[in-house]
Amino acid sequence: MSFDLSVMPTKNILLGVTGGIAAYKSAILVRRLKDAGFDVRVVMTQGAQAFVTPLTFQALSGNPVHTELLNPEAEAGMGHIELARWADLVLVAPASCDTLAKFAAGLADDLLSTLYLATKAPVWVAPAMNQQMWAAKATQRNLNTLVEDGVHVIMPDAGSQACGDVGLGRMPEPEDLADQVTAYFHQAQRAIAEKFGMLAGKHVAITAGPTRESIDPVRYISNHSTGKMGFALAAACYAAGAKVTLIAGPVSLDTPNGVRRINVQSAIKMLETSLQMLDEGCDIFIATAAVADYRVAEVAEHKIKKAGDELNVALIKNPDIVATIAQQSKRPFMVGFAAETRNVEEYAAGKLVAKKLDMIACNDVSRKDIGFASDENAMTVFFADQYQMEKRDLEKASKQEIAQQLVEAIHDALHHEPETDDE
Ligand code: C5P
Repeated sequence: MSFDLSVMPTKNILLGVTGGIAAYKSAILVRRLKDAGFDVRVVMTQGAQAFVTPLTFQALSGNPVHTELLNPEAEAGMGHIELARWADLVLVAPASCDTLAKFAAGLADDLLSTLYLATKAPVWVAPAMNQQMWAAKATQRNLNTLVEDGVHVIMPDAGSQACGDVGLGRMPEPEDLADQVTAYFHQAQRAIAEKFGMLAGKHVAITAGPTRESIDPVRYISNHSTGKMGFALAAACYAAGAKVTLIAGPVSLDTPNGVRRINVQSAIKMLETSLQMLDEGCDIFIATAAVADYRVAEVAEHKIKKAGDELNVALIKNPDIVATIAQQSKRPFMVGFAAETRNVEEYAAGKLVAKKLDMIACNDVSRKDIGFASDENAMTVFFADQYQMEKRDLEKASKQEIAQQLVEAIHDALHHEPETDDE
């Protein structure tokens, strides 16, 4: 499963590790959570330290490991109350029956049990223990209490155990736990977006990346576009409640969570797929792709052999995808992009008119700090006349933040009341 947390501010996971053989799996869990974009701090009970050293978790999380409640030095760093407030989610994995009992009873005689009482964040426990201890009446009673208290219990897996028994009690695999945590935050984000979703109910189609125009079976013409802006926009549109189709040229980026991706190579294929979006009732079309202006007139059937000092390849003009879609009778709200090295605003405004767009976002790619392969961007947005909106400057920010500002600009244009002459 692959997720993209890029549209979400970094979330903090407080991972409680308690005494059990499954503690070694928690080291991999920290890795997976970090890979998914979380900031992780680890709290270890004394029992956990008998299985894995704090140094392992410190190295993997990149943060100091918290082990003691009454340690003046640790309290001077990040005290237990601060730590409890820092967490967006407390995950205890593995959770021993001793820790479950402490939580259920409300004891606060070590750092983890104190944090449990002191945090407002949701608490998840992944119990892992011998199958007989899992089945014990006291453990089940404590688990029921915890569920009643609002704790989310991740059920253990069944299988052979370190002690030789077979049954329920194995901690789920780290990848599984990390996926569950990630999905939880995505659902929360999606629920907020659906409630306040600026693009709720809209179908957005986005072209992204370069196109690749074949010369012969092994060679092609292309450009350096990375597709980052289009992918960031796809994530932002999805987070704003839209159904999103990403028509992607050849790029090496993960598909944002919840986004339908259609991979294409050539400009012709990108156009064909874009036209299909009209049949699917697309409401907003955003063209971020760096479409090759020309393609090879006749693609050679076989690999072209070296011969002579010169090779001439005839090129013919590619269709303008965004302009073609804009000409259709039932057209979506059209958004184009313009990357210029001089007279940026003048050229961009010209393209807005020439391509019959509703909105164009332009940036100055002569600036080294923004545009193309950079992770940051700064833009100016122009709207078509009928929106009678001022041009809007978007401040230099990450491509994710720019994408969110663009979603806002699209939303504002769609909800713009045309001005009338009536007093
Ligand atoms: O004309 P120029 O390439 O500068 O226009 C940029 C805008 O037009 C971008 O939104 C780009 O995705 C779109 N475009 C297109 N098809 C082309 C060329 C550009 O959709 N063949």
